[in-house]
This record gives sequence, structure tokens and C-alpha cells, in this order.
Amino acid sequence: MDMGIAGRTALVCAASKGLGRGCAEALAAEGVDVTIVARTEQTLEETAARIRASAGVEVKAVACDITTQTGRAAALAACPSPDILVNNAGGPPPGDFRKYTHEAWIAALEANMLTPIALIQATIDGMIARGFGRIVNITSSSVKAPIDVLGLSNGARSGLTGFVAGVARQVAATGVTINNLLPGAFDTDRIHATIVAQAKANHISEDEARARRIQTIPAGRLGTPEEFGRACAFLCSAHAGYITGQNWLIDGGAYPGTY
Ligand SMILES: NC(=O)c1ccc[n+]([C@@H]2O[C@H](COP(=O)([O-])OP(=O)(O)OC[C@H]3O[C@@H](n4cnc5c(N)ncnc54)[C@H](OP(=O)(O)O)[C@@H]3O)[C@@H](O)[C@H]2O)c1
Repeated sequence: MDMGIAGRTALVCAASKGLGRGCAEALAAEGVDVTIVARTEQTLEETAARIRASAGVEVKAVACDITTQTGRAAALAACPSPDILVNNAGGPPPGDFRKYTHEAWIAALEANMLTPIALIQATIDGMIARGFGRIVNITSSSVKAPIDVLGLSNGARSGLTGFVAGVARQVAATGVTINNLLPGAFDTDRIHATIVAQAKANHISEDEARARRIQTIPAGRLGTPEEFGRACAFLCSAHAGYITGQNWLIDGGAYPGTY
């Protein structure tokens, strides 16, 4: 299917690896010029070079911390008027809820709630003026079903979800959609860190923790960044203009609810 977004521009945050990279690659494969952001210059440049070579689109790479004001300013300077915004950042560290400090909460809120909100505020009026915009926030299945060791994530991402639910309806008539993609367990560095924490918390080996995690997934496997990216590209497509304010779980059936 032609997604109808060739020639559009996208700002994809936290995109040198994992799910963000999957989204950037899938958008680029549809002919979208992408600006990708991550902190580590070398990995970022390697990813940018790979996307350029495979998709032949314009790829800008901005090495910065997107959770800071200066980082966001640098990203927006490189891509001031994106048609597509993919909000993403590293997830908060796992831990024991009794030990979360005020500073840890502020960092989680900055990364997983306030940064996406700031980027939406900075880009949405341009999208409205041009009559087309797609905003996708990478959140987590923890918004629907909390993960024990990820209390900071459970909380901070729910704040973003509430904000987006309101704004998506406010702009729904303008050609701009805002949706959240909720990853379950995907095969990236991040899931490895979560599995290590669960192994430690439960006094089991990492292999055992990984096997237990996979046992909870009806699909019997972890997801891939490529399939996550393809779902993102569809949400950003010309065909998805009537989908807004949604929370799409991509979790191999792990969430056990009917609705
Ligand atoms: N993988 C899963 O199963 C899963 C499940 C639920 C939720 N999630 C969430 O989805 C998001 C992406 O996860 P992932 O699995 O793709 O992680 P990942 O494989 O560790 O990749 C994270 C990417 O984000 C970049 N990044 C991290 N912090 C950043 C910052 N402050 N500024 C700019 N770039 C930053 C990293 O590059 P640098 O380190 O060089 O900056 C890297 O490119 C995370 O918030 C994660 O918690 C993932």
C-alpha cells in the first residue's frame, strides 16, 4: 500500500536504536525525509547513514538530549516544521517504588511527559496551518497494565496519555491526528534492561526472567522494531486521518482484556 506521505518531513526522537529507529526507517521507506535524534553521535550517524543508503531520502541527524530545552531547540532548528512528529525518549529506570526520589520523578516526567508535550506545542500550529499533521507518541503497555518494576513509567506516561486524549479532540477537525503507540515487549536494548531488573528482583537468572516474560505473550515471542515501525508509518499515513486520540497496543496479545 502506498502510504501517501512521500515528500513529507518527520522529526523522530530517540531514533538511533530500537523502536524509534524502527519508526524512522519505516517512514523513510515511504519517502519521508527524516530528522533523527539521539544523544550518542556515533550510533546516530551510523543509523542516519544506513537510512540514507537504503531509502534515498534526506536524513538529518541531531545529537542531543531531547529531554532538555537546548536539545529540543537543536532538534527543532534542524526540523522546524515537521509534518510528522514521533515522540520518544529513553524509559525511566526500573526500581522499587519505595525508593523513588523526587529527582527521579522529575526526570521521568521530563522524559516521558513534558518533553513530548513541549514538542507538540512547538509543532502543532504549523501542522494545523498546513492542514496535515501526524503526531505519534511512543508510550508503553504500562499505561494500560502497570509493570511492577516500572512505577516511574506507569505514572509519567499516564500523564502524557491524559493530556493527549484532550488535545487530539481539540485539533481533530484540522487534519492533525495524535495517537499513542503502546509497545509491549520488543526485542531492543530497553527490554533487556527490564529483564535484568526483573531477574534481580525475583532472584532468578536472566534467561529464566526472559523465558517467563515470553511465556506471558500469546504470540510466543518478542516484537521486532521493524513491525513497530510499520505500524507507526501507517498511523502517519494519508489513510489514517480518521484515527485520532487512540492508544494502540502492539504487544503480541499480552494485554489480557477484551477491550
Ligand atoms: N522495548 C520495549 O519492549 C519497550 C516496551 C515498553 C516501552 N518501551 C519504551 O519505548 C521507548 C523506546 O524504547 P527502546 O526499546 O526502543 O529503547 P532502546 O533500544 O534503548 O533505544 C532508545 C533510543 O533512544 C535514544 N535516547 C534515549 N534517551 C534519549 C534522550 N534523552 N534524548 C535523545 N535520545 C535518547 C537512544 O540513544 P542514546 O542513548 O544515544 O541517546 C536510543 O536511540 C522507551 O521509552 C521505552 O521505555 C519499550
